[in-house]
Amino acid sequence: MYRLLFRTVFCRMDPERAHHLAFSWIRRAAATPVLRTFAAAALAPRDRRLRVEALGRRMHGPFGLAAGFDKNAEGIDGLAMLGFDHVEVGTVTGSAQPGNPKKRLFRLVEDRALINRMGFNNEGAAAVAARLAARQPVFRPTLGVNIGKTKAVPESEAVADYVTSTEALAPHADYLVVNVSSPNTPGLRNLQATEHLRPLLTAVREAADRAVPARRVPLLVKIAPDLADEDIDAVADLAVELGLDGIIATNTTVARDGLGLTCAPELAAETGGLSGAPVADRSLEVLRRLYARVGDRLVLVGVGGVGTAEDAWRRILAGATLVQGYTAFLYEGPFWMRRMHRGLARLLAASPYATLAEAVGAEHRRQEGAA
Ligand SMILES: Cc1cc2nc3c(=O)[nH]c(=O)nc-3n(C[C@H](O)[C@H](O)[C@H](O)COP(=O)(O)O)c2cc1C
Repeated sequence: MYRLLFRTVFCRMDPERAHHLAFSWIRRAAATPVLRTFAAAALAPRDRRLRVEALGRRMHGPFGLAAGFDKNAEGIDGLAMLGFDHVEVGTVTGSAQPGNPKKRLFRLVEDRALINRMGFNNEGAAAVAARLAARQPVFRPTLGVNIGKTKAVPESEAVADYVTSTEALAPHADYLVVNVSSPNTPGLRNLQATEHLRPLLTAVREAADRAVPARRVPLLVKIAPDLADEDIDAVADLAVELGLDGIIATNTTVARDGLGLTCAPELAAETGGLSGAPVADRSLEVLRRLYARVGDRLVLVGVGGVGTAEDAWRRILAGATLVQGYTAFLYEGPFWMRRMHRGLARLLAASPYATLAEAVGAEHRRQEGAA
């Protein structure tokens, strides 16, 4: 049904318009009590064995919606209704900004991929904070807030910009993510270098504690798949040293290696971040490396090319406690989470592990056992 809708309606539309249309339908459904009750009952995770405890929260399952879909925190209930147990809104920047000129989102249908150079189009921290403060939630998924740098702010003032966002948004967040890995804000990914990352993460931690004295808001950093292995290790070590709560691996890639020959070459040449199936192998590799380095001292969130329950299971065995997706949601539609939950429950039942928590990082322990 969704595939037909995708082929006949969405695929003929500009991808960004299609996104806004689909998202408005989701929000409308969530605003209709009967519809949302039925939808949530059908789509929410049910299997008790999929329950996860992470970042100080009890969740019904490991799956969440990755940042970028709901940049301004406008449709949290609708996304929770579709079965996402955590929703990461943003990226939100210190000041509102329009993002890059359109056209800035491209579908690579044959590759189950997207290229985007949205450039953090968002309403800014104050407006998003006001929306979150006014929110009367119907559903209460774990709410992540992802923050990034305003484009017009020079790199030398980046810390202050992230602090502005933290002060406004931390009070509303179940967890906060420092995004230093989008390829679409010039210079942003330089902040992944530990000499920049250390003062940034320290300042954000302090700002979150100042803004929310009664509660320790978990803090994560989101990294790019294009980091060299030594840099991944350096970020992992820094995260442990600074007492961060987790790492999200990964954002989109500037590489174009994973694309099939079927992809129109003019699309592959578009600048921006590539997401979806072609980034899966590298995202998994980064995750594996992180877990080998930090074990269970940090919560690792696996994202990048997760499309099937098998993909998610591999991330969990490699060390992910939570798993996110964006691109596959666009291709798979509103029943995606239901399929993922059912598939994952089947894989868990067929495995030697009684709970998901036992399976997290299990491939590393198997290797140690075999060595
Ligand atoms: C259109 C689009 C916009 C995105 N915007 C953001 C963003 O604002 N902040 C962010 O941290 N990641 C953003 N991402 C990256 C995703 O959160 C995710 O890390 C990446 O797409 C890999 O996952 P996927 O293959 O499941 O899409 C965006 C991705 C897409 C496709």
